[in-house]
Amino acid sequence: MKDCYKFNTKVMHDCKGKDAFNALVPPIYTSASYRFNSAEEGGASFRGETNCFIYTRLGNPTTNQLEKRIASLEEGEGAVAFASGMGAISAVFYTLLANGDHIVADKTIYGCTFALLNHGLTKLGIEVTFIDFNEEGALKKALKKNTKAVFFETPANPTLKIIDIETVVKTVKQFNPDIQIICDNTFATPYHQQPITMGVDIVVHSGTKYLNGHGDAICGFVVGRNNFIDQCKMVGLKDMTGAVLGPMEAYLILRGIKTLAIRMERHSQNAMEVAKFLQFHPKVERVYYPGLPGFSGHEIAKKQMKNGFGGILSFVLKGGIDQGIKLIDSVKLINVAVSLGECESLIEHPASMTHSTYTESERLASGIEDGLIRLSVGIEDAGDLIADLSQALEKI
Ligand SMILES: Cc1ncc(COP(=O)(O)O)c(C=O)c1O
Repeated sequence: MKDCYKFNTKVMHDCKGKDAFNALVPPIYTSASYRFNSAEEGGASFRGETNCFIYTRLGNPTTNQLEKRIASLEEGEGAVAFASGMGAISAVFYTLLANGDHIVADKTIYGCTFALLNHGLTKLGIEVTFIDFNEEGALKKALKKNTKAVFFETPANPTLKIIDIETVVKTVKQFNPDIQIICDNTFATPYHQQPITMGVDIVVHSGTKYLNGHGDAICGFVVGRNNFIDQCKMVGLKDMTGAVLGPMEAYLILRGIKTLAIRMERHSQNAMEVAKFLQFHPKVERVYYPGLPGFSGHEIAKKQMKNGFGGILSFVLKGGIDQGIKLIDSVKLINVAVSLGECESLIEHPASMTHSTYTESERLASGIEDGLIRLSVGIEDAGDLIADLSQALEKI
């Protein structure tokens, strides 16, 4: 029966936990550790022979309920929650990679993920190759005998670059089926895109964004096959990062995720309206939004994204960076802030903020130009957002 549930139902009805009092809303289990009935049970629990909770870094009832829900929404076997998206991504890399291994990553990704790959992993003797996954033949050429994983975002932060998931899967698995394909699905969310159903091995998320949706908690997720999730819990989370999600945050995300489908529907509708407005504005040079028919990744986005194209867009004004900064300083309703996927609209300048971890030449080679402005379109009235952008554009 449960398998019949559609996404809009699963966001709140799937994988419900049970507590002693049949509470409808999941209780917050704040206990750091859990009593054993005997020394024997304690030892058996550490050997993985019981279902007992031991210590919240190893598992927590509130967090477990959230993990099951995320796995269900992403169509994965299992999931593990982290204290941040970066905690989740680090744990995946630390679990999969060792000194002498090789990873291939797309060069247009979130700034801190770029820094982790470019500076963090290389420091540990892991070889990292950045390529443009959309360049004909580049991925096949980059794969090597010691390649253990490939990593990409689609849509990518901050240019909304779309990568054809099916092509990546085919190329990589033909070369070596053991190479793990990791997709950051933060921008699309499982409402629009479920990479595991397309052959991706591991999905990562900054749950701080749409999954929570209210900007009041930082968290991350890893979704994948049970054997990898177990390894990720025991190595990446328990022993290496320790980046455990607190039960209070888990509760907030369980609450926020109930409205994921309805929020994403509105985010996407609003982003489409704002993108169309900007596209035809005489002061706008270019708009990056996968929903626009003229956008380079539009056809692939149509193939692999469902129900719309998400709530993020970027644009460049005529006159570039100077005009862009003036626009940011002129909006009244839209907040000047990083992060994304919150109910409120947020505007930022990637080159000096979220992607300042790239050197100028790395950034330009990744298509992140100086004048690029990123807008996370919220769920306010679309007309009010357009009016705000319009008055700001008049000032420049
Ligand atoms: C695509 C993407 N992945 C990962 C992260 C990192 O997530 P967090 O800030 O929750 O650590 C971000 C943050 O902005 C992001 O945009």
